[in-house]
Amino acid sequence: MGMRKGIILAGGKGSRLYPMTKTVNKQLQSVYDKPMIYYPLSTLINCSIREVLIITTREQCGLFVDLLGNGSELGMHIEYAIQDQPKGISEAFIIGEDFLDGDPVTLVLGDNIFYGDDFYKDLMYISKQNENCVFGYRVSNPSLYGVVEFERPSDSYERNVKVVSIEEKPDEPKSNYAVPGLYFYDNSVVDRAKALEPSERGELEITDLNNSYIRDKKLKVKLIRDSAAWFDTGDPDQMFEATMFVKSIQSRTGQMIGNIEEIAYRKKFVSEF
Ligand code: DAU
Repeated sequence: MGMRKGIILAGGKGSRLYPMTKTVNKQLQSVYDKPMIYYPLSTLINCSIREVLIITTREQCGLFVDLLGNGSELGMHIEYAIQDQPKGISEAFIIGEDFLDGDPVTLVLGDNIFYGDDFYKDLMYISKQNENCVFGYRVSNPSLYGVVEFERPSDSYERNVKVVSIEEKPDEPKSNYAVPGLYFYDNSVVDRAKALEPSERGELEITDLNNSYIRDKKLKVKLIRDSAAWFDTGDPDQMFEATMFVKSIQSRTGQMIGNIEEIAYRKKFVSEF
């Protein structure tokens, strides 16, 4: 097995953020004091991943290159690829096949922000394993997300509960645990993604990919403690909430969230110089 690689999916139309996204891609908009993509990139750096593929639209790709270049300033290697149409999150693995070259992968959605020291430690651990792992995070509005169905009903915080399936945006969610946009897979992921059929909305669904691992009893679902924070910044309210969160934590503690240079330094990707 080679080194784990990372993919950030940062395309899409950003239609819920229109007109802000009329000219500038969602993941380049600011969340408090940094472009949104800094946060998912910092999540991958927290996993000690140095090789990253950023997938975005043809029109916006140049702006991402202007922002992050080839990654050398962070002691990383960053490549770029185009997704012409938003045909589904699982398409990322098909687009990234050559980049992955048979290595395990962590995919993070470009609009997902994670925070929490214990959670970062968990990420380090999981990243070193060759396991397939997704997360469950308790939310009040699960119908907006992929939702975990446990073997027995579970609303309270329990670990090691068996997962039967994941349902994408169900009208009647079977639990309050949403699956955030952070996915760890082995090298069977490309073939699994290729075997998927488009859903009714015409997308290769990440939830179908997760269910293919669940059917083979090869997916771990790890519940994230409430002390960690997860934001999906898909609409203006969520972006505003994430902005307030980042500002509060940074002002209160003096610690930065999503500071890619600082984390790359702590991970010894770059020297102090
Ligand atoms: O945020 C977590 C949720 O993300 C999961 O719980 C759901 O299972 C998953 O389907 C996804 O739901 P969303 O409704 O948030 O997905 P959305 O279409 O907003 O896409 C998420 C990000 O990925 C967004 O930044 C745009 C990008 N994207 C999405 C698709 C479908 C692409 O770049 N290309 C695509 O084809």
